[in-house]
Amino acid sequence: MIVLLVGSGGREHALAWKIVQSPTLTRLVVAPGNPGIGALAEVRPVRADDVEGLLALAREIAADLVVVGPEAALERGLADRLAEAGIACFGPTASAARLESSKAFTKAFADRWSLPTAEYVVITSMEGITPALKRFKPPYVIKADGLAAGKGVQIIDSETDADAWAAVMNMLGGALGKAGARVVMEAFMEGEEASMFALCDGVTAIPFGQAQDHKRAHDGDTGLNTGGMGTYSPAPVLTAAVAEAAFEQMVEPTVRGMAVEGSPYRGVLYAGLMIGAGGPRLVEYNARFGDPECQVLMLRLESDLLPYLHAAATGGLADLPAPRWRDEAAICVVLAAEGYPEAPRTGAVIEGAEADFGPDVVVFHAGVARDAEGRLVAAGGRVLNVCARGETLGQARDRAYAAVACIRLPGGFHRTDIGWRALQRPG
Ligand code: GLY
Repeated sequence: MIVLLVGSGGREHALAWKIVQSPTLTRLVVAPGNPGIGALAEVRPVRADDVEGLLALAREIAADLVVVGPEAALERGLADRLAEAGIACFGPTASAARLESSKAFTKAFADRWSLPTAEYVVITSMEGITPALKRFKPPYVIKADGLAAGKGVQIIDSETDADAWAAVMNMLGGALGKAGARVVMEAFMEGEEASMFALCDGVTAIPFGQAQDHKRAHDGDTGLNTGGMGTYSPAPVLTAAVAEAAFEQMVEPTVRGMAVEGSPYRGVLYAGLMIGAGGPRLVEYNARFGDPECQVLMLRLESDLLPYLHAAATGGLADLPAPRWRDEAAICVVLAAEGYPEAPRTGAVIEGAEADFGPDVVVFHAGVARDAEGRLVAAGGRVLNVCARGETLGQARDRAYAAVACIRLPGGFHRTDIGWRALQRPG
């Protein structure tokens, strides 16, 4: 099978690492890729949001399957253009990708299909702000409707309404471009967040792993929100009963509902869950694998990934056996550039990342480039993903942090407490 993989981050490095292990793969091309991906596959300098460029590349290499990592090209209709060209795509059409690209769409869809989630209002003008603030109480949860590169959600917990009013006004006023033209305000949900994944082929959905992310920049879950500073899998908070409830109450009705409404969902559906006393509730959907959740899923996946991606794109998931997972834990520690997430400094020379850390440790490249002298340098906010497996989460954590200690990223930082919730759990 000839595969075109779209993306350049740690998530795509992890997908490439797993895809090249498939016996059915004949050629893997990645656009635009990164140095780590370049060591595994052919990389081509086509941007991950350049729909026409990606379509031309898929045609040129006669791709049997296009696997889309990030969401931007999906929102712009890459899956639609590939379908017109008769090329299978792992990733939803623009209409189905609204589950990620429009929070207002997803909240209304959740109402129509009775998915458990928080109450909400959609604000489209200044006049709508005060009534919305009267309906909810702090902490106020304020979300830009559209894709906002991780900057679209604010939780405002202050005595007065003034900060929340200003945050909504700022979004409506254009601070996030058209993503903030509509704003969703919703009731704050108590509980613990976790990420659950399902593969969908438009008709059938199958569970495809779960993980827990650490969104805050610093230890103890302090500091600014980020794209994710580390993950681990499995996440004990997602017990079999909770996962089953979430699958039945959210994923299955979503796949059914999207098909009935004329936008069958194909690809991976990432459900961000809040797990509280009343059971799991939907925080948000994403139309892609989580990053860095994907990295720990790939370390734990024992089955060949490619048949699942292909079946999700073309139909037939119901005919595949349930995927097998290693009975081991996996962890990912993100090494971030100085200044991340506000103003990451690029260019720092990385040392030690290409060492052999043994069979249970993999260092995925995220925001990394090679300079003119062939050295690895920081080229983004989240630079490296140091991942490890172990019989226990504690063992995986020790292996990952032993590797972290051997890598130098001048000015960079990482969290030292990835996995703390699971590691502190009794039993
Ligand atoms: N790690 C969170 C996300 O991928 O959205």
